[in-house]
Amino acid sequence: MANTVLIGAQWGDEGKGKIIDVLTSDADWIVRYQGGNNAGHTVEIGSEKYVLHLIPSGILRDQKHCVIGNGVVVDPVALVSEIRELQERGAELSGRLFVSDRAHLVFPYHRELDAAREERTGSTGKNIGTTKRGIGPAYGDKAARIGLRAGDLLDEAFPDMLRGLIADKNTVLQALDADALDVESVVSEVLEAGRFLAPFITDTIPLLHEVLDRGESILLEGAQGTMLDIDYGTYPFVTSSNATAAGACTGTGIPPHRIDKVLGVVKAYTTRVGEGPFPTELLDADGKKMAEVGNEFGATTGRPRRCGWFDAVVARYSVMINGVNSWAITKLDVLDAFETIRVCTAYELDGQRIVSIPGNIRTFGKCRPVYEDFAGWMEPTTGAESFAELPALAQVYLRRLEELTGVPAELVSVGPRRASTIRVSPSEDLVSA
Ligand code: GDP
Ligand code: IMO
Ligand code: MG
Repeated sequence: MANTVLIGAQWGDEGKGKIIDVLTSDADWIVRYQGGNNAGHTVEIGSEKYVLHLIPSGILRDQKHCVIGNGVVVDPVALVSEIRELQERGAELSGRLFVSDRAHLVFPYHRELDAAREERTGSTGKNIGTTKRGIGPAYGDKAARIGLRAGDLLDEAFPDMLRGLIADKNTVLQALDADALDVESVVSEVLEAGRFLAPFITDTIPLLHEVLDRGESILLEGAQGTMLDIDYGTYPFVTSSNATAAGACTGTGIPPHRIDKVLGVVKAYTTRVGEGPFPTELLDADGKKMAEVGNEFGATTGRPRRCGWFDAVVARYSVMINGVNSWAITKLDVLDAFETIRVCTAYELDGQRIVSIPGNIRTFGKCRPVYEDFAGWMEPTTGAESFAELPALAQVYLRRLEELTGVPAELVSVGPRRASTIRVSPSEDLVSA
C-alpha cells in the first residue's frame, strides 16, 4: 500500500475510524498525527463496537503497529484507560503501540480551563461547543512554550515542573470562578499514568524513518476534519490543530515527498457537532430523519450531531487544501429512504453566486445553499457488494458527487461494519479526475 494520509473532508465524524480499519488490512503502520481525545473513531467488527479516542484505529488488527505522533496532544490518564479497556477486551498492545516523546500532554487543568471558558462564553453565544477535553488550552500551552511532553513524564524533575504549572493555572481557574485543583492529587494521578505509559514512550521519528527505509507502508489517520482545521476551518469554530493533510508531516516528522496519496473521507451528507455556521443544515423533518437513521450522536460526548445535505463547495475546498486523490464516501445507506436528495453546488451571498469558502466567519454565516436535486433510490444499499449492485439512482448520485468535486470514489461505505464497504475498482471508471 502507498503511504496514505486519510483526512476528514467535512466537520469530522465522516467515518474515518471505519475506513482506517478497512484499509489497515493493507498497511503496516497506522499513525495519528494531530488532535487528542476530542476524537471519537468508531470501528464495528461483528457484534463488537470500539470507539478509539487517542489510539489509532488500526490497533484492532493483530500484527499492525500503531504510533501516536508528536503532533497529538495526549491526556495520559485518558490514554491509560483506553489501553486498559482494549487489553481487557483481549488486544495485545505491547510492542505494537508507540507514543512520541515529543507529544504534548493534556492535564486536568487544561480540561478545567476548557470547561470554564465554555461556561463563561455560553451565555454570550460565543462558545465553541468544544468537547471539553482540554484540547485548546493544551495546544495553547504548546504554542506559548509552557507545555510538558510525554518524554518529560520520565524525567525526575517532572513532578516539580507539574507542581509549578498547576499552581500557575490554579490562579487562572480561580479568576474564572472555577475551583482550584488539588496539586498533590493531580501530581500523583499523572505520575501513576506516567509509570504505566513509560514502556510505550519513545522517539518515534527515527522509528518511522526506519519503517520508511524498510519500505513498509504507513497509513496516517487524521482526526476531526478540514472545516475544523485551525487554519482552514470555520475559525473560531474549529479545533486547535491542523486536521488537514499537511498536519501529517508536522505531526510525525515524515517529509512531504514520502507521502504518496491523500484519501478524503466524506459522508454522503454532512454533519457537525458544536457551534458555528453550517450552510446546508436541516432544521426540519429531513434533518431529524438523517440524525435518527444515521444514529448521529457524538462518539466522544454523546451530543446530537447537526445534519444537512452534502455540500460540494466544502468538498471542493477540501480537495484543494488537502490534495485529495480519491474519496471514501460513507453512510450512503442513510439516504436510502429519502424521496429527494439535495446537494449544495454553490452559495448565494448578498445576491451573488459564489463557489468558495469565505474566510470571514460572519460572511460564511450569511451564505445560503444553492441546491441541485436528485431522485432518491428508495431501496436498501447495505447488501450491495459492488458499485454495479447499487441501485441505479444511487450510482447517479455518486457519479455526480465525483463530477462536482473532480475526484473519483475509491470506497463507498453502506453500513458501519467492515463488510459493508464497496471497493470501486478503476475498471468501473466512474470519472477521471
Ligand atoms: P470518525 O470520527 O470519522 O471516525 O466517525 P465516527 O466514528 O465519530 O462517526 C461515524 C459513525 O458512523 C460511527 O457510528 C460509525 O460506526 C458509523 N458508520 C461509518 N460508516 C458507516 C456507513 O457507511 N453507514 C452507516 N449507517 N454507519 C456508518
Ligand atoms: P473526530 O476525529 C467532530 C469539534 C467540537 C467543537 C470543535 C472544537 O471524531 O472526527 P475541541 O474539543 O476540539 O476544542 O472542540 O471541534 N470537534 C469534533 N467534531 N468530530 C471530531 O473528531 C471532533 N473533535 C472536535 O465539537 O465544535
Ligand atoms: Mg468521531
